[in-house]
Amino acid sequence: MIKNRDGFSSKLGVIAAAAGSAVGLGNIWKFPYVAGQNGGAAFILIYLLFTFLVALPVLLSAFVMGRSTGKNAVGAFKSVSPRGAWKYVGLFGILAALLLISFYGVVAGWTTEYVYLALTNQLNLGTAEAYQHLFESRVANPESSIFWLAIFLAFTVLIVISGVKNGIEKYAKLLMPLLFALLLVLAFRSITLDGADKGIDFLLNPDFSKLSAEAVLSALGQAFFSLSVGIGTMVIYGSYIRKDVNLQVTASEIALADVAIAILSGLAIFPAVFAYNVSPSAGPGLVFITLPQVFQYMPAGYFFSLSFFVLLFVAALTSSISMLEVLVSFFVEEYDMRRKRVAISISLVIIVLGSICALSNNLLADVKLFGLSIFDLFDYIVTNLAMPIGSFTILVFVGWRMDQNIVKEELGLGKRINQMGYNAIMFLVKFVAPSAVLIIFLNGIGLLG
Ligand code: PFF
Repeated sequence: MIKNRDGFSSKLGVIAAAAGSAVGLGNIWKFPYVAGQNGGAAFILIYLLFTFLVALPVLLSAFVMGRSTGKNAVGAFKSVSPRGAWKYVGLFGILAALLLISFYGVVAGWTTEYVYLALTNQLNLGTAEAYQHLFESRVANPESSIFWLAIFLAFTVLIVISGVKNGIEKYAKLLMPLLFALLLVLAFRSITLDGADKGIDFLLNPDFSKLSAEAVLSALGQAFFSLSVGIGTMVIYGSYIRKDVNLQVTASEIALADVAIAILSGLAIFPAVFAYNVSPSAGPGLVFITLPQVFQYMPAGYFFSLSFFVLLFVAALTSSISMLEVLVSFFVEEYDMRRKRVAISISLVIIVLGSICALSNNLLADVKLFGLSIFDLFDYIVTNLAMPIGSFTILVFVGWRMDQNIVKEELGLGKRINQMGYNAIMFLVKFVAPSAVLIIFLNGIGLLG
């Protein structure tokens, strides 16, 4: 064991940091439009099912791996199975975290710019075309994309450099309540508008006819992405959890908070969009094009618009902190490097990769690999490959490879009362979740015809 290892000081700190990682652009930017495109409530039901039956067991397994070994993902695999090939999956996770923060950082950079635009009252544009034009011009502008990516990364790096307790935990405890409060205010405003019921209906009334196999795959992808599992994040966060914290309860609370915030985001967005008769199907542009337009029609729109982009910024920040922590902890622990130096060096690499992603929306738009732009390729590698592969491996590792006495002890299950819970969890970890991941993954990459 490493002496004096930094870690979370309290259960509340764990929840804030891990829910901070989970709640991000995935909940507020992606979830509403993906749900919108895939039949609203029908998609949400499947997503909920996957979250609790598949992604939550992965989260719990990742916590078990991290806390029992006290290591980052690669170190955790190595310490249980020094000669096994497991560690390569850990390394793939590290690479995926690097790709993820690079493209995530670009969207977070746009968000940061929109905070600035909202603050300086530059989001009062009038027509739908003007909003469309604004967003497209921001995306098409390489300098501004890279500039705002760098600003966003600077916030991330500063917090990560301060350490786990004094950086990640401290800021998560400050920012998560702010995020929740802002979201509640926005959702309340949205559902109390005249004509909001159509939006609520859209979100909560299932249309199963829109539920294709592809929609099922994206629901699983969304569940993994949203809970931040499969690329080592929750292993390293698990390693910072104190022994007296109950992992089952904590993991369930994080999953609940995550889905609750995704649904609340939908409620903050769709009722307002419908109430003002704006098209709900803007896809990725929903929050950058449609929403600012909606806010300008609202009384006190300046306040709501600024609140929304601050909310989105905070959500992105607490998530990107966890991605950077995956990378930093790996180099600090495996190569004995200094936290500050590693964080700064990695952020330079992220700026380069992120710039390539940003440029793939403009100057490099014609560069395609496997038919995808670089931005979409990074997304594909992380969401469709690394996360399912990593999640499957973690499940198999904890369910079948690790010493089951250690797993049992980590789950806090010496006591008889919990035996049933333990059996149920292990049934999910060993059988249900890995088979679901496997089938859907093979189907997704086209191997099941
Ligand atoms: N869960 C984050 C979101 O929903 O935006 C994204 C994420 C963070 C994915 C950290 C993976 C990760 F390791």
